[in-house]
Amino acid sequence: MKSEYQHLIDLSDYPVAWWNKLIDLGVRIWEDPAKYAHECDGRIMATLFYEPSTRTQMSFQTAMLRLGGRIIGFDNPANSSVSKGETIKDTTKIVSSYSDILVIRHPVEGAAKAASLTADCPVINAGDGGHLHPTQTLTDLLTLKIEKKTLSGLTIGLCGDLINGRTVHSLCKALSMFSGNKFIFISTPELSMPAYIKDIIKANGSTYEEANTLEEAIGRLDVLYMTRIQQERFASREEYLAQKNTYVLDRKKMLLAKKDMIVLHPLPRVDEITVDVDDDKRAMYFTQAKYGVFARMALIMTILNEEKPSETLKGKVYPGVRCGNPRCITNHEEYLPKSFRSSGDETLLECEYCDERKLV
Ligand code: NCD
Repeated sequence: MKSEYQHLIDLSDYPVAWWNKLIDLGVRIWEDPAKYAHECDGRIMATLFYEPSTRTQMSFQTAMLRLGGRIIGFDNPANSSVSKGETIKDTTKIVSSYSDILVIRHPVEGAAKAASLTADCPVINAGDGGHLHPTQTLTDLLTLKIEKKTLSGLTIGLCGDLINGRTVHSLCKALSMFSGNKFIFISTPELSMPAYIKDIIKANGSTYEEANTLEEAIGRLDVLYMTRIQQERFASREEYLAQKNTYVLDRKKMLLAKKDMIVLHPLPRVDEITVDVDDDKRAMYFTQAKYGVFARMALIMTILNEEKPSETLKGKVYPGVRCGNPRCITNHEEYLPKSFRSSGDETLLECEYCDERKLV
C-alpha cells in the first residue's frame, strides 16, 4: 500500500544514511538556528496529542515556529470530536486537509501507522502507546553526536521500565545499526526488554546483556539512559507499586561511574534520579530536551522538502487472523486492514502496526 506522502512512523523504515543526514542537519541548525528561520514560512503543522505531553508537543511546536511555520491542534482529546466517538481515520482525514504535516501521539500501539493510511499529508509518530517513539530517538542520537562525538563503539545502559518504555525500544533499534555498540539492560524480570527488540539487536550484529542492579553495571557505561516506570501502562496499581522505586540513580551511585559517562532521560522524571544528580556535569537530560527542538526542526524541514512517497503496509492480510495484542490499534478500530509480515514460512506472523508476534 503506497501513500503519496513521506511519513515517519518507525526510523527503521529509512536507511541509516537518511538518519545521518538528518542528524548532521540537526547539528548545523543547533550551531546557527537563525539561518533556518524562514524554511517553513506559510506551512502549517497540526499536533494531535491524545496522551499527555510536555516536551514532545512543545518542542515540535517550537521547532515549527522557529522555522517560520504555524501550528494548530489539540492536546486534550476531551475537547475535540474524539470525545464524541470519532475514529482516528476521520480525525486525521480532516485535520490533514487543514495542514502540511501532522504529528500524532496516541495511547494505542500502531495508532500513528493507522493515521498514515488515510492522512492527506505526512504523519509523524510522536509516541504510540508502549511501542515506539522515533523522534525521541532522533533527539537522543543528536545528543550523543554532540556530547559523545560518535554513535558507535558505545556501551549503553538502559534502566527502568524496558517493557513499556517506547523510547528505549526505538533507541535500541537505532543504535544497534551502528557498529560496536553494546547494551546493558538494567531492569526487574517483569519489566525486561521485549524479545523482538533483543532479536533485532542480535540480527544487527550488536550485543546485549542483562543486569539486576545499577551498581553492577554503571562502572562500564559510556551512556546511562534512565527511564520512568510507566504507571499508566500497568494493568493494576498493585503491579505498578511493586516496581516503583526499584532503581534510583543518586550521587552515591554516580561515584561508581566513569568521569565521562553521560546520563540521559527522556523525561518526565518521577523519582528515578535524585535531584542532587542534576548538578553533576554528567547529567545531560535537560540539555537533551533542548536538543529535541533542533532534531525536530531538522525532521520537519526534511519531510516537507523531500515529499517522497512512503510505503505504508508491506505485509498481507491473512483471512481470519487478527493481532493478539489487546493494546494494538487493529483491535480498537475495526476498519483497518489486519496486515502482517511473515518471516518466510508464514507460521510466525508479525503485526505491521504494533510488531506483536503470533504463531499460526
Ligand atoms: C517519554 C514518552 O512520552 O514516551 N517522554 C517524552 O516523550 N519525552 C517518556 C515517558 O513518558 O516516560
